[in-house]
Amino acid sequence: MNELFQFAKYIVSEAGKLLLDLKKQPLFLQDKKDHGDLVTIADQNVERFLVSKILEKYPNHGILGEEGTFSGDLSKCDTIWVIDPIDGTTNFIHDIPFYGISVGIVQNGEGVIGVVYNPSSDTLYSALKGEGAFANDEKIRIQGKVKLRDSVFSTSMFWEDPSLKDSLHSGVIQLYKDTRGMRMVGGAAISLCDIIAGRFNAYVMPMLSPWDFAGGAIIVREAGGIVTTLDGDEVDYTKSSSILASHPDIHEEIVKRFKKKNT
Ligand code: IPD
Ligand code: CA
Ligand code: CA
Repeated sequence: MNELFQFAKYIVSEAGKLLLDLKKQPLFLQDKKDHGDLVTIADQNVERFLVSKILEKYPNHGILGEEGTFSGDLSKCDTIWVIDPIDGTTNFIHDIPFYGISVGIVQNGEGVIGVVYNPSSDTLYSALKGEGAFANDEKIRIQGKVKLRDSVFSTSMFWEDPSLKDSLHSGVIQLYKDTRGMRMVGGAAISLCDIIAGRFNAYVMPMLSPWDFAGGAIIVREAGGIVTTLDGDEVDYTKSSSILASHPDIHEEIVKRFKKKNT
C-alpha cells in the first residue's frame, strides 16, 4: 500500500508541474453544460497524463475521471482511482489561487489514499488509511475544540442545475445564520483540505460529483474529521452525493440542521 501511496503522490506532483506549464499556453476554453461549466485543454491533458501513468504501472486498476479518458469496465476493477485533473477550473482560468488536482484511491469501496495538490501554494495534501494525513509530508491533524457559533464554513453555489443558480440551499442559509461566516472559494478539493489546515471548520455542498470530493474526503477523515452526506449517511466515493465534511465537534449539529430542512 505504501508503494501505491508514494506513486500516487509522485504522479500528482508531476501532473502539477504539467499543469503549471500548460497554464502559460492558450487554454482553448469550451463550455460543458453551460457557460459557467468550463473545460480547458489543460483539464484534458492532465487527465490523459494521469491515466497513462496509472495504467502503465497498474494495468488492472480502473479510473473514474471527470474528463472520461478511461474507457474500461470499472465493475471489473477492485482498485479505482477517482480523479479530477483540475478541480476549480474557473479559478484556474482566472488565476484565483483555489484550484487543484484531486485523486482518491478506492479499494473495494473503501477510500484508502487521497492526494490533492494546490499548485498556487505548492502544497501537496495526502493521506494513507491508518497512517494519517500530511501537508507536504508533514503530519497534520484537525486541532482544538470548536463551537458551531465560532466556526467558518465553505460551500459553493449548487450549479449542477443552472436553473437553481439563483438560490442557495435553505440548509446552507440556516448554517450561515448559526455560524461566524460562510465563504465560497469555488473548488471542492481545496475547500476540503482547508479544513485540515484549520482555515475552515466545515464544507457543505448539496451535490458533488465523486471526483470533486473523493481525494479531499479521504484526507479529511484521516486527519480526524468526519465526512458524510448532509443527512449523515455514508458517502460512496464513486457516486455523486451531497457532502458534509467537518471538524468532529460540529458534525452532528450540522446534520441536525439539514435533517430538519428535509423533513
Ligand atoms: C467544481 C468545483 C466547485 C463545485 C462544482 C464542481 P470543476 O469542479 O469543485 O467548487 O461547486 O460543483 O463541479 O468543474 O471546477 O472541476
Ligand atoms: Ca471538480
Ligand atoms: Ca474538473
